[in-house]
Amino acid sequence: MELPFDGAISAFFENDAPREVRDAIRRADKGDVLDPGFPYSERMAKKVYEKELEQLQIELVKLQHWARETGARVAIVFEGRDAAGKGGTIKRFRENLNPRGARVVALPKPSDTEATQWYFQRYIDHLPAGGQIVFYDRSWYNRGVIEHVFGFCTATEREYFFRQVPDFERMLVDEGIHLFKFWLNVGRAEQLRRFLVREQSPLKQWKLSRIDVEGLPRWEQYSNAIDETLTRSHSLHAPWTVIRSDDKRRARLAAIRHVLGSLEYTRKDPRAVGTHDAGIAGGPEIWNG
Ligand code: ADP
Ligand code: MLT
Repeated sequence: MELPFDGAISAFFENDAPREVRDAIRRADKGDVLDPGFPYSERMAKKVYEKELEQLQIELVKLQHWARETGARVAIVFEGRDAAGKGGTIKRFRENLNPRGARVVALPKPSDTEATQWYFQRYIDHLPAGGQIVFYDRSWYNRGVIEHVFGFCTATEREYFFRQVPDFERMLVDEGIHLFKFWLNVGRAEQLRRFLVREQSPLKQWKLSRIDVEGLPRWEQYSNAIDETLTRSHSLHAPWTVIRSDDKRRARLAAIRHVLGSLEYTRKDPRAVGTHDAGIAGGPEIWNG
């Protein structure tokens, strides 16, 4: 089978990746965390993860039940570089929920008609109704980062975006929607390691896109765009939660825990929710591009 990006990732790894990134990947054992700033040197053991995940998923079922009983609306935005783990985290959130009340919104690039609309318009169409939890796998924040890095929007359009986003989010929050914004923070070596795995795996190749491949040499441009986006769109009413994601398991648990810890659903068991890990989840100050 001919693949559109056959070998592009390994070629980048061999020829273009910064030396420290290549060395970190070569040196690492399977269980090692690659991000030098990560608070743990090893990934969480599978058994521990599965046990904690199950407890948290039971709480999520209660949360969904509460939302359906009370008509609460929850919108959760997942952002992060390619391969940061957005899709995998969303999957763990939804695993035991009624899928009808827990939708994923992963919009393709805007159509010609959508491109003529107000930028936020097509995202509004997917906001939750009463009892629903909506997971945005990428969101309006494309304009802050991807669209900027790839030149899909003009500088003026991006300025309008930054000007409008706090008011836009304030409207959602005033309206009573419980809004969460996660930034999954993956390090350069770990991202490249995940891309290499995708390139090798027939079941994962579909996840690779032109954007992923062409984004590889643009790490710094991404970093600058992310830094600016986090700074300009972090507000009291709609704060960012940054999650260090080099260890997928800890990242998933931290994201679920954050949502559970922030909502007062019925029959909540604080012991099952557990305690916040400040080394894994925090505000924009823990982001390290
Ligand atoms: P994903 O990471 O979600 O699997 P891609 O890596 O292919 O998908 O693309 C990343 C994001 O960039 C997607 O949200 C996609 O809609 C957006 N995108 C791709 N091409 C364009 C474009 N020409 N204009 C605006 N957005 C685009
Ligand atoms: C992720 O893993 O962050 C996304 O869901 C998929 C991707 O890498 O493009």
